Amino acid sequence: MSGVTEAGFPQEWQQKAAEIIESGRLIVLVGGVDSGKTTFASYLVNRIMEAGLSCAVVDADVGQASIGPPAVISLGFPESPVERLSDIPMDSFYFAGAISPQNHLLPCVVGTKKMVELARKKKNPDRIVVDTTGLVRGRVGRTLKAYKLDLLEPDVVVFFQRRKELEDLARIWERRAKAFRLRVAAEVQRKTFEERARNREEKWRLYFAESTRHELPLKELAFSRGILGAGQPLEREEREKLSSSLGKKVLWAESSSEQGILVVEERLSEDELLWVKACLGLEQADLHQLSPLYFRGLLVALISEGGEARALGIVQELDFEGEKISILSPLPAGEKIAEIQFGSYRFPLINGQPAFQRAAFRPPEHGQPSED
Ligand SMILES: Nc1ncnc2c1ncn2[C@@H]1O[C@H](COP(=O)(O)OP(=O)(O)OP(=O)(O)O)[C@@H](O)[C@H]1O
Ligand SMILES: [Mg+2]
Repeated sequence: MSGVTEAGFPQEWQQKAAEIIESGRLIVLVGGVDSGKTTFASYLVNRIMEAGLSCAVVDADVGQASIGPPAVISLGFPESPVERLSDIPMDSFYFAGAISPQNHLLPCVVGTKKMVELARKKKNPDRIVVDTTGLVRGRVGRTLKAYKLDLLEPDVVVFFQRRKELEDLARIWERRAKAFRLRVAAEVQRKTFEERARNREEKWRLYFAESTRHELPLKELAFSRGILGAGQPLEREEREKLSSSLGKKVLWAESSSEQGILVVEERLSEDELLWVKACLGLEQADLHQLSPLYFRGLLVALISEGGEARALGIVQELDFEGEKISILSPLPAGEKIAEIQFGSYRFPLINGQPAFQRAAFRPPEHGQPSED
């Protein structure tokens, strides 16, 4: 085929890769869905290593993850040539909380920067390649990419374009750094929504394959990024008083100046809520009630005392009475966990086991490309 190298890659890749590698240390790949970013990333990694340079890869694609599981921004240090980006073992990760950057722009941007910084701190490699999600369209996509690039200050940005759709960003980045434009190769195949969902399922299955049940005492944990943990919890005695006055079991109650959270097995009426609001001094704030089942199947990250993400987990049960949380996770036994970061992604549980199936995903309108 003309325009294709012996190895099956576009000739353009071969020509530009050398120039890209020479142009600087931090290289960010930007393009729409199925534009060849991840394939090019693995090609580039091999070319970097062939040139005798050390390399790190930050995989910021929380939807179609390669190095880590979905919902994280992962860092890996390839040691030998790779066939696929997913051959690179994960060294560290930052939890993004969801399988799409939509509504999670901050963790995606912060996490990518943190993983780049960590790569520098740990091994200071000659080159760092950042692969990103295909979410580039619309206000959300452009905001994500523009601010991510602003924060990363890359030396090189590679834009994958079909019809000059990223020229606005390319114009800026050819002035600030080195910008390369690559045509989306004719060989690039579109992944269907189903394929994307299947890729994710496979990644989840692999990641959680060696998981065990971890029971962590609530007293030793801080909760972050979730509905719990923002307020001051009521002591057990006060909670019991509240339960007996209401005649309904209050499993958890916490309040801040902005809001209150109740976890109750039986829903409270409007009148009961008003009464609890008065009891908690929350007249000016919202009071939300949740079922204890709300937490089941939630994706969480287990964080060490120093703030490092050690493993992902799936909540099996938040046992308020027993004051413990049960989490299915590949976390090695004996590792001390100080904080639980709540994600917004939830697995359906069947007999307490997560079902890695498409029931968890809502397909887009038929025929719409999926921008996860
Ligand atoms: N140069 C190429 N020659 C042949 N096939 C290719 C080439 N580049 C990409 N592909 C194929 O096209 C598909 C999409 O490529 P790839 O996953 O690299 O794109 P992407 O931009 O990373 O997609 P996503 O939006 O999912 O992150 C894959 O199946 C890949 O194997
Ligand atoms: Mg990709």
